[in-house]
Amino acid sequence: MKEAKRHTITAALPYANGPLHLGHIAGCYLPADIYSRYLKAKGKDVLFVCGSDEHGAAITLRAKKEGTTPQAIVDKNHAIIEKAFNDFGIEFDIYHRTSSKIHHETASEFFNDMHDKGAFIEQTTEQFYDEENNQFLADRYIVGTCPKCDSDGAYGDQCEKCGSTLSPTELINPKSTISGNVPVLKETTHWFLPMNDHEKWLKEWIETGRLDGVEQHDASTWRKQVIGQCKSWIDNGLLPRSITRDLDWGIKVPVEGGEGKVLYVWFDAPIGYISASKQWALDNNKNWEDYWKKEDTELVHFIGKDNIVFHAIIFPIILKSHGDYILPTNVPANEFLNLEGDKISTSRNWAVWLHEYIEDFPNKEDELRYVLTSIAPETKDSEFTWKDYQTRVNSELVAILGNFVNRTIVLTHKYYDGIVPSSHNFAVDAMHQITAGQLFSMKEKIEDSIENYNFKEGLTETMGLARLGNKFLADAEPWKLIKDESKKEEVAAILNFSLQVVANLAIAVKPFLPNTSKKLLQQLNLNILNWEDLGRLDLIREGHQINKAELLYQKIEDDAIEAQIEKLKATTVNQSNPKAKPMKDEITFDEFIKMDIRISTILTAEKHPDADKLLKMTVDTGIDERTIVSGIAEHYKPEDVIGKQVSVLINLAPRKIRGIESQGMILMAENNEGSLAFVSPEKVIDNGGEVR
Ligand code: 2FM
Ligand code: ZN
Repeated sequence: MKEAKRHTITAALPYANGPLHLGHIAGCYLPADIYSRYLKAKGKDVLFVCGSDEHGAAITLRAKKEGTTPQAIVDKNHAIIEKAFNDFGIEFDIYHRTSSKIHHETASEFFNDMHDKGAFIEQTTEQFYDEENNQFLADRYIVGTCPKCDSDGAYGDQCEKCGSTLSPTELINPKSTISGNVPVLKETTHWFLPMNDHEKWLKEWIETGRLDGVEQHDASTWRKQVIGQCKSWIDNGLLPRSITRDLDWGIKVPVEGGEGKVLYVWFDAPIGYISASKQWALDNNKNWEDYWKKEDTELVHFIGKDNIVFHAIIFPIILKSHGDYILPTNVPANEFLNLEGDKISTSRNWAVWLHEYIEDFPNKEDELRYVLTSIAPETKDSEFTWKDYQTRVNSELVAILGNFVNRTIVLTHKYYDGIVPSSHNFAVDAMHQITAGQLFSMKEKIEDSIENYNFKEGLTETMGLARLGNKFLADAEPWKLIKDESKKEEVAAILNFSLQVVANLAIAVKPFLPNTSKKLLQQLNLNILNWEDLGRLDLIREGHQINKAELLYQKIEDDAIEAQIEKLKATTVNQSNPKAKPMKDEITFDEFIKMDIRISTILTAEKHPDADKLLKMTVDTGIDERTIVSGIAEHYKPEDVIGKQVSVLINLAPRKIRGIESQGMILMAENNEGSLAFVSPEKVIDNGGEVR
C-alpha cells in the first residue's frame, strides 16, 4: 500500500445525553488519541475530529425523563463532555456538535444530493405507533427482546448487547418506551437507503479491501470481529433501511413530503465528522476536502463494537452513493470494558465517570491512560477493577518507569551536579552494547504495533524500554562502583547511557502518556525530541545541565482505592442484602400511577385442577369479586390463604392461565431462597384501599 499523505481520524461522536465513563474512553477515545498523537509526533498531516451527537431518541427520551427540553439536555451534556475530554487530554483538532448550523447544512446537502441522484427509495410501510402519546415509535422509543441474541432491552434500531442492527418490527414483544404500551401499526412514508443494492461491492470491499478489483486498503489489518460482523450482516442479506423518522428533534427532511420528519440520527451523525472537518478548515484556513476526498488520505474510524455496522457498512454506502468521498481505510472497533465483574450500566450507575475520576485523582490522567491501554478490550471484552488499577500504577508506573527515571536523575545530580557526564563511547561494558541493540529494535516494534492498531502491545513494548533501563541500572550498580576510583569512567558511561534511555522514553511514551513525556523533557531540560530519533544514544549531549528530579508518579494508597470501591457500591449495591437483584430501569411517575393496586381479601381458594403450582382464588377488591390464578400452591395451602388481606394489581390485562382467566395479580414478595410472602397491610384496611 502507498503511504498516506494525510490522515483523517474520527472517534465516535458521543451522545450528549449523559457524561462519559471509562467504557467510552477505553472503547474508542483513548486508542484514537494515541494513534493521532503518534502520527503527529512523526510529523504527519493529521486531522482528528469528534463532537457531540445531539440528535435522536437518546436525547429526546433523556429530556422527557428529566422534564426539560432536548436543547437544554444537549447544551448541558456537551459542555460536561467537552470539558472532560479536555481535562483528560484527549486532543482533538476540533470537538464539534451536530446541533450546529454548519452540520445541519452539511447533512441537508448530503441528503439532497443523494436524493437528486436517486440514491433513496420512498416507501410507505406500517410502523409502530403509541396511540396514547400519538407518536410513531422509532429507535429507542421502542424496546423488546432482540431476535438475534434473545436479550431484553433491545432498541428499535439496534441491540447494544450483540451489536445487531434491527428494525422495530423485528423485536419480540415490542413495547413503547414512553408508555409501556403494546404499540399498534400505522402507515407512514419514509426515505430508505436501498442497502440491498450495495451488497456486491461491499462484500468485495470488506473481504478483500478492493473495489472493482482495485486495492483500497489492506484487509488483513482489519480486526477479525469487525470483518466477521460485517460479513454475517451481508451474508444474511441487506435490506432497505429507513433514514428518516417521524420525530420533531433533528435535521428536517429537506425535500417535499418531508414535513414533520427528520433525518435518522445514524444518517446525520457520521456526517458530523465531515461538518466538524469543515468547521476546522474554516478556523484554520485549510481545505477540508483534502481530508475527505483525496485518495492519498487515510480515513480511520475509531469506535466501540456496537457501532460497527454503522461505520463499516451504512456510512460507506452513504459516502459511496454520494460519490467523491473516500472510504475508511480501517474501522478499529474495540469490544466492551466491564467494571468490577459486571457490565457498565449508566441506568444502574455502575460506572466510573471520567469527570469524577479527574476530580478524585487530580493530575493522574496518565495513570488512567496507562491502565486503560494495558487492559484495552481490543480483541475481547476486558475488565477494569480498582485493585488492578492500583497494582498497575504502583508496581509498573511507580516501581519501574518512575523508579528508573528518578534514580537516573538523582544520581546525575549527586555525582555530577546535574551535568551530563561523558559516555566514554560506552566502551566499558558489553551490557551497554546489548541494551543499546535492544533499544534500537524497539522503535520498529512500537511503530508496527501502533500502525496496526495494537495499542496494548505498543504500550508493552514502550514499558519494555523502561524495564530495560531499570534492569540495566540495577545490574550496573553505579552506587557501588562510585566508591572505586578506578571505575570513574564506567560510572559516567552508565549514567550517560541511562540518561539516553530516559530521553528515549520521553519520545516513546508521548502517544500513550503525554504528561509523562512532558515531565521527562522538563527534567532533562530539553525542549523537544523527534520521534525519528527514537533508538539513538546521543539524544542528550555531554555537559548538558539537567533539571532537578521530580517524582513522575505517586503510589496509590489503599484508602483511595477503597473509597472508589465504596463509592461504586454505594450508588448501586449499597445493600444490606448482597443477593438483591439490581434496580430496573427508572420509570416516570406517570408510568407508576398507571398501576392500580388495591387491598383485597381472599374469599375462596382451591387448587387449580390441571396445575400443581397454581391456586385459583376469588378476591374481594372492594370494587368487585374476581378470579385470580396465582403460582403460589407450593407455598400455601388453600385453607391458609382464605381471609387474608393482600395487594392486588387489578388493572393488569386479564390472561388465561391453564384455561382459567386470571383477572389481576396478587403481589408477592420473594426471599433470596425463593420463598414467598403476601404483601399485606400492617393493619386492616377497607377492601378497595389504594396502594400507592
Ligand atoms: O453510539 C453512540 O454513542 C453514537 N452516538 C455514536 C455516533 S458515531 C457517529 F457516527 F457519529
Ligand atoms: Zn441482540
